Amino acid sequence: MKVSQGCIAVWALLSAVGGYASSATDSEDPSASTSTSTNDNINPRVPPGCSLVMAPSSIPNSGWGVFSMVDSKVGDPIIAGDLVIQVADLNVTHASDMRRIVYDYAWNAAETGGQYEGINVLSVIPGIGMLANGASEEGILPVLEPSVDEAGVTRHKSPGAGAFTHYFNYTFHFNKPLVAGNEILVNYGPGYFQMRNNQMANEKEEDEEEGAKQPQLLHRSLESLHETGFCLDNLKPGKSTIEHAGRGAFASRGQAKGSVVAPVPVLPITKREAMDVTRKKQVSKKEFAETTTKQLLTNYCYGHPKSSVLLFPYSPMVNLINHSSKRSNVRLQWSSKSQPTLEHLQDINKKPTASTDGLLLELVATEDIQEGEEVLLDYGPEWQAAWEKHVKQWEPYPFEYAPGYVLDEAVPVLGTQEEVQGSKPYPPNLLTSCFYPYVHPETKPSEGEDDEKNDPTRNITSAEWRHMPGIFELRNLRPCTIMQRYEVEKDKDSSSGDSEDPSNFYYTVVIRNRYGLAPQERILPGQMHVVTRVPRRAIRFTDKVYTTDQHLQNAFRKEIGLSDELFRNWMDLDGKSDSEEKDL
Ligand SMILES: *[C@@H]1O[C@H](CO)[C@@H](O)[C@H](O)[C@H]1NC(C)=O
Ligand SMILES: *[C@@H]1O[C@H](CO)[C@@H](O)[C@H](O)[C@H]1NC(C)=O
Ligand SMILES: *[C@@H]1O[C@H](CO)[C@@H](O)[C@H](O)[C@H]1NC(C)=O
Ligand SMILES: *[C@@H]1O[C@H](CO)[C@@H](O)[C@H](O)[C@H]1NC(C)=O
Repeated sequence: MKVSQGCIAVWALLSAVGGYASSATDSEDPSASTSTSTNDNINPRVPPGCSLVMAPSSIPNSGWGVFSMVDSKVGDPIIAGDLVIQVADLNVTHASDMRRIVYDYAWNAAETGGQYEGINVLSVIPGIGMLANGASEEGILPVLEPSVDEAGVTRHKSPGAGAFTHYFNYTFHFNKPLVAGNEILVNYGPGYFQMRNNQMANEKEEDEEEGAKQPQLLHRSLESLHETGFCLDNLKPGKSTIEHAGRGAFASRGQAKGSVVAPVPVLPITKREAMDVTRKKQVSKKEFAETTTKQLLTNYCYGHPKSSVLLFPYSPMVNLINHSSKRSNVRLQWSSKSQPTLEHLQDINKKPTASTDGLLLELVATEDIQEGEEVLLDYGPEWQAAWEKHVKQWEPYPFEYAPGYVLDEAVPVLGTQEEVQGSKPYPPNLLTSCFYPYVHPETKPSEGEDDEKNDPTRNITSAEWRHMPGIFELRNLRPCTIMQRYEVEKDKDSSSGDSEDPSNFYYTVVIRNRYGLAPQERILPGQMHVVTRVPRRAIRFTDKVYTTDQHLQNAFRKEIGLSDELFRNWMDLDGKSDSEEKDL
């Protein structure tokens, strides 16, 4: 059982979704479903040199676990970094149909820098972030942030814009040495997320308490891992060779035809409407336009036109695999003979203990694959048709736009608010943000906002920016307005005297609020908090809410199609999923 991330951004949503129905005690024992041929010496699932495997966890009733096959040092990456998919403003009406993902697997988006993607944002982190079991202390730490970029696919040039996530390379590193055969545990607990607010700490699940009591070094013999495991590092990330596709997955070692390239455990979303997002946009003073789009997560799910079910694959790198009907070199097959019924899939979202046994696919090579070759899957005829239609209809974005990370590189020395309003405006989708952990001086924020507005002595506070451990965690990033820029007093020798050198300047800023802050982190109405001596490296351009490519109205949305054969248990619709074809 994975431990809930119990995060700030999600708590409001979760209370709307409600808890799991309490009942059922079926245990999650994946070993039952792994009895496919392991003595097959042509297709070993754990090839020589494999450094990481998925196998039944050494913690009882904990489903799958991730194990190191080699000794590892502190600071080594566990595996290449994976994607982060930001789920903004989940559809509350249907969120209970993906409760397993939300409750047991999603992370607080402020941990991955996704907090500006919406009002309530969850980060789905496939790979180590979902597959490894949790321990509340001394686990593996992720890097502080994923890389963010468009992979060369821009809204001005490519119909692929907004069709894949910009957050990638989210890498987990070892924070203590491991011996071959050790199970890898990720630290999900409040010990790591020190800034997490108390409210959430109180809501932490019982599982977490249990996790804390687990011995820290859990082990399986290498023989048993060879027997029951699946190799996790046959794939590595890279830039796709397919036009408009962005990133892709590549073979990190040669694969013989018929071998299992990757295990693909999946979690169910039992109603595809859970992906629908309706948003009201103000078009004039009185008028609002309603738009409906689909979550970006849709594009990473498996589905079938005759089914209401979507399946989200969550093992490392598999979400990077792109489509080709002609050049595909892998296919999916179920690992076990029988799949759960539709009712059982629904139970998985109703009961925390409902088993996910049987929800394991294998990605199998359909031909010999060379090391370094791109791994491509046929997403099916519906996907192909939808993509062709999209490319035909697509029009480039007509307005000025630059993402935050581009401006950060382009603008080493920042203008003040006054300068920016004048001659040098930044693109309208951007705001400046500062790394600054503000906590309201009072323990309990008062509700009497009017009184505070009228108290002249309390409305401006100020502080000097100071470097402290953890200050560059993404959760500390909040909007700030730059009021003043001044030169750093340095001794003459060390100063470069270069007016473009960012380290020559400090800034005075006014700190502002963003969505998803805890009450004690909010600047109260009528209050102003000024921070002086802020260095450039503590200031970033960030994209305003709903402005990044994943929110584009004309972004491509379509789930990956699985065959009738693979989906046969869950065909509950007549097949005309008209919501798919709706013109936006
Ligand atoms: C991914 O992150 C690692 C550090 O965790 C870094 O060394 C590497 O350059 C990054 N790769 C990309 C493509 O950003
Ligand atoms: C590449 O894969 C991603 C994720 O599955 C998908 O969103 C995107 O549309 C794909 N692009 C192409 C051109 O296949
Ligand atoms: C949730 O989905 C339904 C059905 O697709 C849609 O009508 C509704 O507007 C959505 N709600 C939100 C908040 O997006
Ligand atoms: C501070 O309080 C005074 C008196 O109530 C008010 O006039 C002023 O606008 C307040 N300043 C700010 C920045 O809110």
